[in-house]
Amino acid sequence: MTTPDVTSLRSRYDEVSPKYDKGTPTQLSHRLFWLAYEHLTWSAVEKVLPPAGQVWRVLDAGGGGGKFGTRFAERGHHVTVLDVSPGMLEQARGEFSQKGLLERASFVEGSVTALAFPDATFDLVFCEGDPVSYCMDEYPKAISELVRVAKPRGPVVMGLDNRYEAFVGTLKYGKKEEALKVLLDGKTKCPYGLPVHAFTLRELHQAVAAAGAEVEEIFGKPVMFFDMLEAFQAARGPNVDLWEARGELLALQERLAHEGFAVTGQHLQVMARRK
Ligand SMILES: C[S@@+](CC[C@H](N)C(=O)[O-])C[C@H]1O[C@@H](n2cnc3c(N)ncnc32)[C@H](O)[C@@H]1O
Repeated sequence: MTTPDVTSLRSRYDEVSPKYDKGTPTQLSHRLFWLAYEHLTWSAVEKVLPPAGQVWRVLDAGGGGGKFGTRFAERGHHVTVLDVSPGMLEQARGEFSQKGLLERASFVEGSVTALAFPDATFDLVFCEGDPVSYCMDEYPKAISELVRVAKPRGPVVMGLDNRYEAFVGTLKYGKKEEALKVLLDGKTKCPYGLPVHAFTLRELHQAVAAAGAEVEEIFGKPVMFFDMLEAFQAARGPNVDLWEARGELLALQERLAHEGFAVTGQHLQVMARRK
């Protein structure tokens, strides 16, 4: 059983925090990729938010620099940003402050494997960008904690690493001797060199059910992105302006992501609801 090394997680994220979420990818295809990633992440969340005027209490677990947390606050919700890294929490505080949203936020240092909140505290629990993957074999505990602090029928949203993508990536980057092991046990490393667990759909369905929630959907984000881009370019001809066409590309991703291509996703997003 591999457990998360919280000390390494904290110090690595403290180290990267000053530059986290700063800068844009130089390559257009990568800019479009991240645009699609954020679009898919947020469009699914928007569908489960209440009508304007109703204020929810939201947990942004592993909230990092507050990129998504501020979006909840912009819609009037109160956000508790929780993270293992004080450096990332400081970045989040800066982001909320810059956007004039500090009064709708609180910041808590802690791990998703042991949440210091009573049962049924939050109307919505959001855990994006792999915090649950960092929990390694303790992921069932993390998912149980996230479900526990959600109110009954409250949405629980998680973004996680995808086993198939991790396997294909390991092969593609020439680490062929490691690829079979990654495929079978899901243990790999994130771009910051930290160990992560990459999930199969079955693992997620089982862990969510065991935690007392129902999976409403698991989708990939983005799905087949670079292949889709190549096909789009070939269909539209060499002069197509991909940046100008970004609305169309996002609409295509929106359609394909919810069409059952989850395992081709760079990441997985679980949309669950506490029973
Ligand atoms: C890739 S970042 C994502 C940040 C943010 N959610 C986003 O989407 O922009 C992962 C974040 O998870 C945090 N994290 C990792 N393991 C965690 C754990 N066990 N409990 C809480 N936070 C954790 C890291 O410190 C980091 O801020």
